[in-house]
Amino acid sequence: MAVIQFQLNGTSTAVDVAPDQTLLDVLRGRLGVTGSHFGCGAGECGACHVMVGGRAMASCDMPMWSVADQDVVTVEGLGTVEHPHPLQRAFIAEQAMQCGYCVSGILISAAALLKRNPSPTEAEVKAALDRNLCRCGSHNRIVRAVLRAASEMASR
Ligand code: FES
Repeated sequence: MAVIQFQLNGTSTAVDVAPDQTLLDVLRGRLGVTGSHFGCGAGECGACHVMVGGRAMASCDMPMWSVADQDVVTVEGLGTVEHPHPLQRAFIAEQAMQCGYCVSGILISAAALLKRNPSPTEAEVKAALDRNLCRCGSHNRIVRAVLRAASEMASR
């Protein structure tokens, strides 16, 4: 066991864990931060994506030792019910969710994209979301929602 410190959604956080325990396990099982979901457990579906240092990454196969002193943002850190992130508003406006299981990871991937590229093309949105699977087939609405959020953020 080791105490690992990191920033979680802007709050300094310390947990005493086995260093090779995954970030997703710790988020969901220890910290009660359950917005990130377990899908494949192999870094291939994107349901567990969180931002680490501003980059969208799978948390299901990320050992805790690797997030020491890092800045981690989950979907809970994007916005609130009272103050949703523009992406969250756009996903609602475009009805870009069906079952919703994959959406937290998609929102994180999209937020990381808009951080590094505030005005992405449709092709760039598709490329950024390439590692996020949606079994409901909402892809077109998801892409529209990300472009809508980018446009809204640019006009502010
Ligand atoms: Fe992590 Fe699928 S659960 S990528």
